[in-house]
This record gives sequence, structure tokens and C-alpha cells, in this order.
Amino acid sequence: MASNGGYEVARDDIELGVSPGHSRSLCVLGTGDFGRALAQRAVASGYTVTIGTRSKQKQADMMKLIEATGATLASQVDAIAAADLVVVAVARDFYDSLPLHVLKNKVLIDVSNGPVSGKTLSLRSNAEHLQELVPSAVVVKAFNVVSAYLLETGGIQGSKEIPVATDSERARHQVVQLVRDMGFTPVDMGPLRMSRDIEKMPLEFFRDWRGAFAVVGVLFLIGYIANFIKFQLCKNITVNETWDWSVFKKILMTNFNRNLGVIALETLGAVYLPGIIAGFLQLYRGTKYSRFPAWLDRWLRMRKQLGLLMLAMAGTHGCISLGIYHPHHQYDWLFEAPKTIRAEVEVNKTFFETQTVNIWFHHPTWRGELFLTLGAVALCLLAILGIASLPSVTARLTWREFAFVQSKLGWTALMAASLHDAVLGWEFMVTSYKCYMPTGLQYALYLPIICVIGKLIQLIPAVNRRLVEIRSGWVRKASSEA
Ligand SMILES: Cc1cc2nc3c(=O)[nH]c(=O)nc-3n(C[C@H](O)[C@H](O)[C@H](O)COP(=O)(O)OP(=O)(O)OC[C@H]3O[C@@H](n4cnc5c(N)ncnc54)[C@H](O)[C@@H]3O)c2cc1C
Ligand SMILES: NC(=O)c1ccc[n+]([C@@H]2O[C@H](COP(=O)([O-])OP(=O)(O)OC[C@H]3O[C@@H](n4cnc5c(N)ncnc54)[C@H](OP(=O)(O)O)[C@@H]3O)[C@@H](O)[C@H]2O)c1
Ligand code: HEM
Repeated sequence: MASNGGYEVARDDIELGVSPGHSRSLCVLGTGDFGRALAQRAVASGYTVTIGTRSKQKQADMMKLIEATGATLASQVDAIAAADLVVVAVARDFYDSLPLHVLKNKVLIDVSNGPVSGKTLSLRSNAEHLQELVPSAVVVKAFNVVSAYLLETGGIQGSKEIPVATDSERARHQVVQLVRDMGFTPVDMGPLRMSRDIEKMPLEFFRDWRGAFAVVGVLFLIGYIANFIKFQLCKNITVNETWDWSVFKKILMTNFNRNLGVIALETLGAVYLPGIIAGFLQLYRGTKYSRFPAWLDRWLRMRKQLGLLMLAMAGTHGCISLGIYHPHHQYDWLFEAPKTIRAEVEVNKTFFETQTVNIWFHHPTWRGELFLTLGAVALCLLAILGIASLPSVTARLTWREFAFVQSKLGWTALMAASLHDAVLGWEFMVTSYKCYMPTGLQYALYLPIICVIGKLIQLIPAVNRRLVEIRSGWVRKASSEA
């Protein structure tokens, strides 16, 4: 018998009223949203379900909802007596109002979640609290990670994995079977004390995304401020003789769109850089069997989120750019030169004058064609990476296919997007903007260039051979051992 902080946990010695073989009768305590949804799903899965209520006097609307589940309505005591498995679909605060004396020797399935605020006076989970209230029963934590909506709509949205935790192997077996019968995948989480973690799961709020959001948010803000200083302030201070307010309207679309492109490319560099750093560290240490520093480990684990955020930025940039990719919109070097004619132009109703007029043909130059195609190819490849990262798609790919998409296609996208930037602005690559600031076209390439140089070094045959050996398990012997 194991101990949990002085509290006995193994419960296989409790005599359960579980019928031999697989019990198909179920009691659900509570006629609330969750109790009804679970009852309905269990009935659809071939179970005989009795819903236990404090009072059978319900309003007509509620009665219709309960009848629609296909379950029978009974008093709490009668419902509990009719089944060995009891789902407690009642909030924790009301556990002690249940007829605890008749729950003896039953398997109690605790479906409750922790408080949304995260504040609780007790370290114990709801499931452990219920176990303390009824020591002669066995409590199993399950189903809390799914919503009533998911149960009703057949599990199309959201995760279909259900963590299960209990201190009794027999009860675990029963509940795991129930979870399977209802079309979900049970995940064995071990003893009941794991319910502390399980109860927190549905309340987590973008835990895996926080780091990536922070990195991308800070980069975006810095880039936006730099663009504002360059295009709105610096130009007015150093070039214009009088203050030109018209450039300020560009902060809405032009600045925003350029910044999206630049930060998307920087972020794509940040997705592939940690793999390169990891490679050099492995070469230096001569083994893959030593832990990376915490910052690198975090960075490596953040790549998926960084990648998906960059895809969102690149997609938005592509959409806006298609709207403004036009000869009249400052791309004269990307389109064929306009035809220039001299024409009589009406200045006002009575006055005409002869002016030079540009007539633009919407034909891109070779450079314009290349620039646009590279951007579109990069976005297309990145979309494939994004699709491959959907769990349903990932599950259908072999490890080799997934690695090909994420690594090879991802690197190709990085190259294509970098060339898209370089072809657009190669003449700005060595000059700085007024006020000694680098152009966005330049700093978009900082991380991608470091990635490409690092990758080229790691592709040198002798270096690559050693890296492949290390990643296959080879370990360099210390000089004293050699
Ligand atoms: C739109 C988009 C979607 C993405 N979706 C996903 C996704 O669903 N899942 C995903 O994982 N990434 C995703 N990414 C990130 C990226 O594509 C992958 O991480 C990709 O596998 C990186 O390839 P790589 O060749 O740089 O590195 P890898 O081949 O992954 O790494 C290089 C080497 O570093 C070492 N290494 C890497 N990670 C670790 C680690 N955690 N512990 C120890 N050693 C390590 C290994 O030795 C490895 O051989 C996505 C990126 C984008 C742009
Ligand atoms: N809703 C969800 O999507 C969801 C998802 C995961 C987990 N859960 C968990 O499931 C449990 C039930 O949630 P719910 O949304 O169904 O709640 P709810 O709509 O408030 O229903 C709770 C039911 O508990 C019964 N009950 C028994 N004793 C009670 C008492 N003393 N006071 C008040 N009600 C009492 C009531 O039914 P009778 O009047 O018929 O007795 C009531 O309808 C909670 O622990 C919750 O954390 C819910
Ligand atoms: C269909 C896809 C795409 C189209 C149509 C497109 C189009 C454009 C256009 C028109 C510009 C010039 C913007 C301006 O100067 O105002 C531009 C710039 C840029 N694009 Fe794209 N692009 C695409 C995809 C991408 C992708 C996927 C990336 C990066 C991952 C990217 C990164 C950049 C960068 C860094 C710039 C330079 C911004 C600057 O001038 O500072 N683009 N793109």
C-alpha cells in the first residue's frame, strides 16, 4: 500500500459492487448540462443509464431535455442502487449533500474541474476530497477535460484523449472501458493524486504559446517603432523642408505590412536557428547525451508556436501586398518603365496646359516577376508546414514524411522568403537609411543569414559526417580515456 502524504492510497482491497465482466449500467448524479450530456452519450454507447436527482419535480422544459437523453430519471438513492458505476456530475461544493452512505463499495467517477480563478484553500483535488468523504468507495478521475458540448456533438472538436487517474486497478479497468465505449481515448495518468494536475488541464490558458507570443510581440513592437522613426519622423526632420503630415497615414497599412513581412522573416529565422545552435553544441560536446542549456531547450520547444505565428503574419502580409502590388504604388523598378507622352491637361474648367504624362503598363520586369513568385512560393510552402502541424494530419504522416515537410520544406521556404526580400531590395542591402538606421529589408535578413551560414558549415562533408554520427549515438571519448 503506497502512501500519499500520510494518506493511504491503494484501494484494491475495497470490495467493489462491480458485476463480474463488463458492467453496462451507469448512474449519473446531477441533471445539469454535464450530467445530461454524459448520460446521453452513454445511452448512445449502449449503456443503461439512470440519472439521479434531488427532486423529480422539474419544469416541463427541463423534463423534455432529460427525456431526450434516453436515460431514466430516479431519486439519487434509487439511481445509485441501480448501478455499480456512479458519475458524480455535481459541483464539489455540494458533494457533502449527496447520500454518501449509499455510495459505499461503488466506483465513483469524479468529472469536476478546479476553480477558474485557480485559487483554492485546499491542496487536495476535488476527487481526493470526494474519496475522503466516502473512504469505502473508489474514486476515479475522468471526463473533466471534455465539455458538455463536446459530449453532445460527438467529439468532433477538441481533444478526444481523456486522462484517467485512480488508486484501484479494477476501477481503472472499468472506467477505461467506459471511456473507450463512449468513443474517446483513455490516457492512464496513474494514482488519484494525479487528479490535481488533471483538474487544472481544462483551465490552462495558452500555456505553450506564451513564450512565442512574447517573442513575436516584442519583435513586432520594436520593428513598428523603428519603421515609425524612419518613415514618419526621420524623413520629416532630415529630408522634408516643411513638415509633411501625409506620410503619417502610411502607419496604418504600408508600415504595418512591411513590418509584418520583416518580422515574419525574422521569426522564420528564429524557428531554424535553435536547431543550428543545437548542432554546434553537439559537435562541441561530442555527444547528444547531455542536456541543452535551459534557454535552448525552451527555444527548441517553442518552434512550432513561433512557426504558426509567423505563418499568420506572412499570410496577412501576402494578402495586403497583393492589394498594393501595383505600378502606381512605388514599384517602378519592379514594373516596366511607363510610356511618357506630352498631352494637353485640363487644369480647371477654363484652363489647359501641356504636361508630361506617364502611362503605366502593368507588366512586371524580370525582377518583379521573380520577387513576387518567390514570396508566393515561400507562403505556399509555409502553408504546407502549417497543415502538417495539425494533429490529425501529423498523425497520418510517417516520421520521415513529417521531418521532410518540417525540415526540408521549411528550409526551402526560408531561402525563398529571404530571396524575396533580397530581390526586392538588393540595392539597399549595404546602405543604411537616413538617421543611420538599417532598412527593414536588411534586418529581416539578419537571422536567416546566420541560419544559412551555420547550415552551410554543418553541411561541410567532414562536419556533417560527425554530426550524423553524434545524432546516431556516437560519443567522443575524453582525451584521458583515448
Ligand atoms: C508553419 C510552421 C509550422 C510548424 N509546425 C511544427 C510542428 O507541428 N511541430 C514541430 O515540432 N515543429 C513545427 N515547426 C517548427 C519547425 O518546422 C520544426 O521544428 C523543424 O523540424 C525544424 O527543423 P530543423 O531541421 O531546423 O531542426 P531539427 O531537425 O528538428 O533539429 C536539428 C537537430 O537539433 C536537435 N534537436 C532539436 N530539437 C531537440 C530537442 N527538443 N531535444 C534534443 N535535441 C533536439 C536534434 O539533434 C536535431 O537533429 C513549424 C514551423 C512552421 C514555420
Ligand atoms: N458543463 C461542462 O461543460 C463541464 C465540463 C467538465 C466538467 N464539468 C463538471 O461537471 C459537474 C457538473 O457541471 P454542470 O455544468 O452540469 O453543472 P450544473 O449545470 O450546475 O448542474 C449541477 C447539478 O448538480 C445537481 N445537484 C446535486 N446536489 C446539488 C446541490 N446541493 N446544489 C445544487 N445542485 C445540486 C443538480 O441536479 P438536480 O437538481 O437534478 O439534483 C444540478 O443540476 C461540475 O463538477 C463541473 O465542474 C462540467
Ligand atoms: C503571396 C505572398 C507574398 C506577396 C504577394 C508579397 C509581396 C510583397 C510586397 C508587395 C512587398 C513590398 C512591400 C512594401 O514595400 O510596401 C513585400 C516585401 C517584403 N516581404 Fe513579401 N510577399 C509575400 C510573401 C512573403 C513571405 C512569406 C515573407 C516572409 C516570410 C515575406 C517577407 C517580405 C519582406 C521581409 C519584405 C520587405 C519589407 C520591407 O520593405 O521592409 N513576404 N512583399
